[in-house]
Amino acid sequence: MATEAEEIRGLGHSVKRKEDDRLIRGKGTFIDDIKLPGMLHMAILRSPVAHARIRSIDSSRASALPGVVAVVTGDLMAQHNLAWMPTLSYDTQAVLVTDKVRFQGQEVAAVIAEDPYVAKDALELIDVDYEPLPPVVTPQRALEADAPVIRDDKEGKTDNHIYHWESGDKEATDAAFASADVVVSLDTHYPRSHPSPLETCGCIADVNPATGQATIYMTTQAPHAIRTLFALVAGLPEENIRVISPDLGGGFGNKVPVYPGYVVATAASLLLGRPVKWIEDRSENLISTGFARDFYMRGELACASDGTMKGLRVSLLADEGAFHADAQPTKFKVGLFHIVTGSYDLPAAHVVADGAYTNKAPGGVAYRCSFRVTEASYLIERLVQNTAYELGMDPAEIRRKNFIEKDQFPYTSVTGFVYDSGDYHAALDLALEKVGYAELREEQARARAEGKLYGIGLASFTEVVGAGPHKDYDILGLKMSDGAELRIHPTGKAILKISVKTQGQGHETTFAQIVAEELGIQPEDVKVMHGDTDNTPYGLGTYASRSTPVSGAATAMVSRKVREKARKLAAHLLEVSEEDIEFEKGRFFVKGAPDKVKTIQDVAFAAYTNFPDGMEPGLEGVSYYDPPNMTFPFGTYVVAVEVDPDTGVWKVRRMVAVDDCGVRINPMIVEGQIHGGLTEGYGIAAMELITFDEDGNCIGSNFTDYLLPTAWETPKFDLGETVTPSPHHPIGAKGVGESATVGSPAAYVNAVIDALWPLGVKNIDMPLTSAKVWEAIQAAKASGGGGS
Ligand code: CDP
Repeated sequence: MATEAEEIRGLGHSVKRKEDDRLIRGKGTFIDDIKLPGMLHMAILRSPVAHARIRSIDSSRASALPGVVAVVTGDLMAQHNLAWMPTLSYDTQAVLVTDKVRFQGQEVAAVIAEDPYVAKDALELIDVDYEPLPPVVTPQRALEADAPVIRDDKEGKTDNHIYHWESGDKEATDAAFASADVVVSLDTHYPRSHPSPLETCGCIADVNPATGQATIYMTTQAPHAIRTLFALVAGLPEENIRVISPDLGGGFGNKVPVYPGYVVATAASLLLGRPVKWIEDRSENLISTGFARDFYMRGELACASDGTMKGLRVSLLADEGAFHADAQPTKFKVGLFHIVTGSYDLPAAHVVADGAYTNKAPGGVAYRCSFRVTEASYLIERLVQNTAYELGMDPAEIRRKNFIEKDQFPYTSVTGFVYDSGDYHAALDLALEKVGYAELREEQARARAEGKLYGIGLASFTEVVGAGPHKDYDILGLKMSDGAELRIHPTGKAILKISVKTQGQGHETTFAQIVAEELGIQPEDVKVMHGDTDNTPYGLGTYASRSTPVSGAATAMVSRKVREKARKLAAHLLEVSEEDIEFEKGRFFVKGAPDKVKTIQDVAFAAYTNFPDGMEPGLEGVSYYDPPNMTFPFGTYVVAVEVDPDTGVWKVRRMVAVDDCGVRINPMIVEGQIHGGLTEGYGIAAMELITFDEDGNCIGSNFTDYLLPTAWETPKFDLGETVTPSPHHPIGAKGVGESATVGSPAAYVNAVIDALWPLGVKNIDMPLTSAKVWEAIQAAKASGGGGS
């Protein structure tokens, strides 16, 4: 028996994060820490107005400022065919403006200078003559017949409509509605929010004029995909492009797209033959880079009078901003929105989506979300709660009644997803048990009797992560697989190179634990490398909680590949046939003779010193993983809140979160992911909002207007887990990175609405600021609320 000290810290061990040694000592290397010899600095001039034609740009005064090396305009970029670039949704986006600006904050020109402050000062010396045009700030207005056409750069474009898309079965859904006893509807807006990572975006482009080698240090979650895009767009040979993504201070989806700043800095370095650094400030990050959400949604749920769900109808209108840049796997028009049927065994559903251009920043990034699954999850979980109340049922009961049953998995939803595994009843039961649901309802009844506004909200989310099988998932044609390369050194220590990129999720620890589990090498002896296209295998990167389902699987597969060779070496060392060798956590032994043993370290040494004739020396391998299906993590969250009727301030009294992400590699890291997500979900539910005034001015361009929850407001979380392994993942893991951000907003809002339901309040759109809640209470009271 292994002693505690010898135990291999593979799956299920809360190993301390290896990367924290450098990160918490301030020894990380972030983009702004990098200084290259001869480096220049770039600053971007942004449009102060939302919609205007450019009459002229005069950069002569800026060019004359001492220290300024160049001013780059759209015309210069156009000479190199780089004034426009493709977006992740097959649209085009202006890199630097040539015709008109289409949102406040759009990139107009760039100054390259010897010093970052000179570059910034020079922006004020660029004279731009704007001819104002009427701005369009809502998608509803955008679709009116007389709305100004925002994308008149697109030949033949006469309106602001981008796409119409349908999913599910309209006829079957209409029939379900016709035979239903009750239909409950909900109209809601999932507001525009921002991932707002601690570190903003930036890059250093270093193009060597002699060799043509382009080294681009860049805040990117997807270095390999970016390199390929650069090769395709800029026409540079791919082998001469090296993208290095150093330590990232968070990403949350914000660091997936290519932003104009990256392209201009690279073009400037190419033209000037010197490295060019560009670092966004906070306002630039908030007003111009990837927003998230911004869906106007209508849901209708048809049920029998006993609460059995019969059909779901959903329509949505997406505000896409000035360029359609949604991050989404191409086949799926509105991302994975059609997982809107959630955790329920719905016999029919029909989803209709339209998108519109507005004079706002582009984006639609997967902010801790699988391509729009967050909005879908929010809608169904809000709708289910309201339906329960309209039917006089407990919200837990309606869920229990309609959940997909454990033995129905693998389950094919009416919109075509195959859910891999689940046990929704177990997660719900555990959450209710942990929170003491029956007692909590009694407490609520007592509070209500005393005139208090006390609410309990549930959300039982299912999401879809781990994009994805090559037949269905790609980004601009690049299939979404990922790789892992493992090399065991003679002393039995290893280097694992992965295609995904950690932004704080702890991959350097958890991926080492996967190797530990498969080969018995302790995680501290496995160095994990990532974020350098020259030194890691190809893959599509980290977003949408796909690292563990895809590159994590590749890591298990390559470890197993290496283990098979190690088994041959062990057989050679133990002088038995391969079939007689058994393996257990780092030890190869002879079947029936456990004292005849060689450790993985013995075997690794032999791979370089004592290998049999005819065998290739060395112990290493590479694997690429194309997942056979997505993974479907799930959970139930329960929140209790108290609302102050005089101020509208609501406080979370209890929050229990039960998550099921299959097998947990590192429970501590998983809990950290969930804590972060529950906090982000709270921020979105309570305070975060990027909004615009009627002129298209962005409100929310700084952290005094765009409010993030601090430790002060953040509720206390009580976590629980169930474990339903993914049947197709080599170690049974599902992703978890986004779960709590996806699942929790509905739980918070459901709790506040539960508190206000007796007054007749059925919906308040997020964020539920105290002012909005107070107004809803006043409006309900004024209309005689209280008897609903
Ligand atoms: O793609 P991203 O890393 O953002 O999401 P993820 O794959 O869900 O992983 C987030 C973190 O949680 C990583 O460090 C994972 O290895 C870890 N994790 C885990 O320990 N066990 C799981 N079942 C899922 C994720």
